[in-house]
Amino acid sequence: MDHSNYVIDTMISAKTIAARVEELAREITETFKGTDKLIVIGLLRGSFVFIADLVRELDLPVEVDFLETSSYGDGVESSREVRILKDIRGEIAGRDILVVEDIVDTGHTLHHVLNLLKSRKPKRMEVCALLDKPSRREVDVTATWTGFEIPDKFVVGYGIDYAQRNRNLDHIGAVRFLDES
Ligand code: IMP
Ligand code: MG
Repeated sequence: MDHSNYVIDTMISAKTIAARVEELAREITETFKGTDKLIVIGLLRGSFVFIADLVRELDLPVEVDFLETSSYGDGVESSREVRILKDIRGEIAGRDILVVEDIVDTGHTLHHVLNLLKSRKPKRMEVCALLDKPSRREVDVTATWTGFEIPDKFVVGYGIDYAQRNRNLDHIGAVRFLDES
């Protein structure tokens, strides 16, 4: 099937996202109140816009780090095999960390990343995911905070891509493939 022919239907507006990011940041700030430093770890590349907005709303001493895992390639199906392409730079032993993910889909990525980070003995590890597709879950993993629960649709925008495109959309939209006929 040729996937080049598609349209994007708006699912979550930029305004709705901004309001939710503010709420999430307030809860995260409350949770980590008194920390000497919160290390915010963004999973590349899909979380880059979300993390940029989120950290600017946090009223805490913050450090930012990034970790990159292998992705879906150019398709819409999960490979289920998770590899670390780029590890974080800093030490997390004994630190407060917040893992920031764009979408929890089958859960394989988050499950793998959390196991890896947990093995390094952070003091406290919490997770904030912008989107959650609970109906697609294959591994039992849940974020501490979720921005929005969404149906089983392939989405793009606000950092999230389809074949590396559409990350720069300011809202979240669902990809709808058009018939070639
Ligand atoms: P999981 O391992 O199946 O939970 O997949 C998680 C990763 O797959 C996310 O971090 C996204 O990068 C990617 N992904 C899952 N659903 C979508 C989607 O609807 N659009 C774009 N990327 C997605
Ligand atoms: Mg991702």
